[in-house]
Amino acid sequence: MRDVDPVLAYRFLEAGPIVLVTTADAGRANIMTMGFHMVVRHAPPLIGVVIGPWDHSHAALVETRECVICVPTVDLARKVVDIGNCSGDDVDKFERFGLTPEPAAMVQAPHIRECLANIECRIADDRMASDYDLFLLEPVAIRYDDERKERRTLHHNGDGTFTVDGRTVDLRERMILWKALQKDI
Ligand SMILES: Cc1cc2nc3c(=O)[nH]c(=O)nc-3n(C[C@H](O)[C@H](O)[C@H](O)COP(=O)(O)O)c2cc1C
Repeated sequence: MRDVDPVLAYRFLEAGPIVLVTTADAGRANIMTMGFHMVVRHAPPLIGVVIGPWDHSHAALVETRECVICVPTVDLARKVVDIGNCSGDDVDKFERFGLTPEPAAMVQAPHIRECLANIECRIADDRMASDYDLFLLEPVAIRYDDERKERRTLHHNGDGTFTVDGRTVDLRERMILWKALQKDI
């Protein structure tokens, strides 16, 4: 074992999956890439996300209080990185990256048709946004693509490398205290 700078803690914990976040302000849809997120509560569901003020998406989220968390698969890897390396201030990312916006059920921000899951969210709590850019989001609707062939998600190692989903270890029969977690989607 060796010492590692504590500033690198995220390298061990940022398990992903890397996601895309859509917003729509003034009717203009945008996409950003996001690695910093975590599940905060099962029910009612709550998800923590860190979206920095340098992102156009930050202003759009603050303004509309809504977004969609979209889960891409490995076939979109290069687009996922490129989307996180340009700004909606300068480009229409749906057009540039050939992605298809689809209307959401409960929010103005669009789904991305090419993603495995689209989780529509509203801000539930922004009290930590000014200190940490941390927003707690409440998922209000989810669309999931059962028919998609490619299902492997990408997990950012924090340094521009990604781990692709591999073997699944099924230990559901041991989740005796957590029966709800044994259920399929
Ligand atoms: C792999 C990857 C992960 C990223 N994770 C985050 C994140 O968790 N939070 C964040 O604010 N920005 C993150 N970014 C940066 C934004 O995606 C980037 O600033 C993006 O261009 C913002 O787009 P926008 O200005 O159109 O909102 C990430 C970028 C990459 C490439």
